[in-house]
Amino acid sequence: MTLKSVPTRGRTLDHAAFVYDFLEPVLLLGKQAEYDSQIVTLLKLKELDSVLDLGCGTGVLTRMIADQLDSGAGGVSIGIDAAAKMIRVARKKRQSDTCRFEVAAAEDLPFEDETFDAAVSSLFFHHVPLDLKEKALSEAFRVLVPGGKLVIADMHTPTTWMGALVSHVSRWFFVQPQIGENIRGVLPQLIEKAGFQPPVHVSTYFGYIATFISRKPEAD
Ligand SMILES: C[S@@+](CC[C@H](N)C(=O)[O-])C[C@H]1O[C@@H](n2cnc3c(N)ncnc32)[C@H](O)[C@@H]1O
Repeated sequence: MTLKSVPTRGRTLDHAAFVYDFLEPVLLLGKQAEYDSQIVTLLKLKELDSVLDLGCGTGVLTRMIADQLDSGAGGVSIGIDAAAKMIRVARKKRQSDTCRFEVAAAEDLPFEDETFDAAVSSLFFHHVPLDLKEKALSEAFRVLVPGGKLVIADMHTPTTWMGALVSHVSRWFFVQPQIGENIRGVLPQLIEKAGFQPPVHVSTYFGYIATFISRKPEAD
């Protein structure tokens, strides 16, 4: 069956799907593997966990998580992306017993309430405008179980002159105001506004990519 991209005001990367796996490690000087590994460590996964990866692209992080899970125990890692071509590459290269991919918009998730033990995203939020950042976070909140974890790595207020240079040049070169919002430091406030516990800023890579961890509060 032909996969179709879903409509969204986010910047989808259908056009880049065929080169993404080669280009991203070059653009990020190989650091992606480092912060993706940190995300996996922060999750402290159990083999039976179910995890959702928002804006998964070609599914590198989704698969790293999946490799820690056991399908027999019910463990599953699901990556969603609005770009069908990204999902096609992800399915072809990274699908497994514990790893699945679906075309979906992060602001309109096709999952029941309280389905996942954790939600993650890597470099997704600077691709969507402010209102969709908010919607994606409230959707993540909805589909997480009480106590479920949220771990996000994304562009944030730069901490070094090099980080400032890269992020401001990206914002203007790619004409991407969504990056400007991240540079202004909106992510932690939006995470809390969606109902999550105040996020902890765990680390910064390159002086402009920050990792945040938070949780959906336990039920009373
Ligand atoms: C920079 S890529 C990051 C991909 C992957 N997470 C990684 O770290 O390599 C951003 C991804 O977000 C996707 N995207 C943009 N808007 C989206 C939306 N509203 N819902 C889901 N995915 C979206 C794009 O198609 C793209 O694959």
